[in-house]
Amino acid sequence: MFADRVLSGMRPTGSLHLGHYHGVLKNWVEMQQEFECLFFVADWHALTTHYDTPQVIGQSVWDMVIDWLAAGVDPARATLFIQSRVPEHAELHLLLSMITPLGWLERVPTYKDQQEKLSEKDLGTYGFLGYPLLQSADILIYRATQVPVGEDQVPHIEFTREIARRFNHIYGREPDFEGKAEAAVKKLGSKKAKLYAELRTRFQQQGDDGALESAKALLGEQQSLSLGDRERLFGYLEGGSKMILSEPQAMLTKASRMPGLDGQKMSKSYGNVITLREDEESVSKKIRTMPTDPARIRRTDAGDPARCPVWKLHEVYSSEDTRQWVQQGCKSAGIGCIECKQPVIAGVLEEQKPMRERAQQYLDDPTLVRNIIADGCEKARKLATETMRDVREAMGLSYS
Ligand code: TRP
Ligand code: SF4
Repeated sequence: MFADRVLSGMRPTGSLHLGHYHGVLKNWVEMQQEFECLFFVADWHALTTHYDTPQVIGQSVWDMVIDWLAAGVDPARATLFIQSRVPEHAELHLLLSMITPLGWLERVPTYKDQQEKLSEKDLGTYGFLGYPLLQSADILIYRATQVPVGEDQVPHIEFTREIARRFNHIYGREPDFEGKAEAAVKKLGSKKAKLYAELRTRFQQQGDDGALESAKALLGEQQSLSLGDRERLFGYLEGGSKMILSEPQAMLTKASRMPGLDGQKMSKSYGNVITLREDEESVSKKIRTMPTDPARIRRTDAGDPARCPVWKLHEVYSSEDTRQWVQQGCKSAGIGCIECKQPVIAGVLEEQKPMRERAQQYLDDPTLVRNIIADGCEKARKLATETMRDVREAMGLSYS
């Protein structure tokens, strides 16, 4: 049905704000139109850094899912689930840990960075070191092809690709690889097929390296082979392996430039956020009390939007006409700051209106949210189970 499968996760560490909306959720909402999408609450990931404050997780999980739904993530299109309700993630994490070199984990840039940034916490834990591998398990267990992430997470996707490659190298065998390889042999035409088979047998049974070379040369001359068949026939000579886990692509989301109330990037740690479903009164008040160009002490002092955090919000929310009105009015002291802020207040409220409306039904009836997640977990689990069957078998665990 879909060629691509998109997977992304978010940590439940507090309520979402407009920065999350512009940076991530809008993108999810677009992608669900085009791709098969799985979005999950990364509650185990939250524990890797917040292991000593587990109480925040429970409440944040449901608030966050409501925020997603409010933003327009559609449970009829996307599968929404909670990581810890699909325990297969943990099993894959464990199994992958067997083949993960410690050095690879230590070299992931976020490892040292985060330890330094969150220096008040002891992040010298096994769980924290292994967190990129947990992320790899999250991705590989669904055979996701696309992972939307910000720039800081790209090394995690690269790491995941390396793990997949290493796994396939050690354990890989294409389902019905032999059948496909045999079919490819036939395509060589009867004479060459016979020669190929003879050379292969001589190499495999007698270790005749010359036969291997001849067979490779024979394949090299075949112009009409498809790339896939060529790779199968080369692989088939020596034994051959193929993908069990597929390598995902990072889908780089444009960095959110969503400005906060003080002109810096909107972030909880700067205390400059407007939350996704913040009530109207509070939104108006926050914007009304935003700092402006410090040069405008009196109403009659001219200002410069380039030095004003409110202008950055006009860049997000206002039409070209309004922006011209701001530029002109600010520089000539033709408008006051309170006046200037009105269109921004209106813009934010308008953006939030459908979100508040969508959220209402879920606030009124929390079982709706519980059911959406229960459904999603079940679907996710089905997919995860399929991959785990192949992984267990490849790793020698499906004996009876
Ligand atoms: N590590 C991501 C973050 O901190 C969250 C995450 C966990 C994730 N597993 C994932 C994102 C898998 C994409 C795919 O933001
Ligand atoms: Fe900022 Fe608008 Fe006031 Fe100019 S008029 S300083 S852009 S709030």
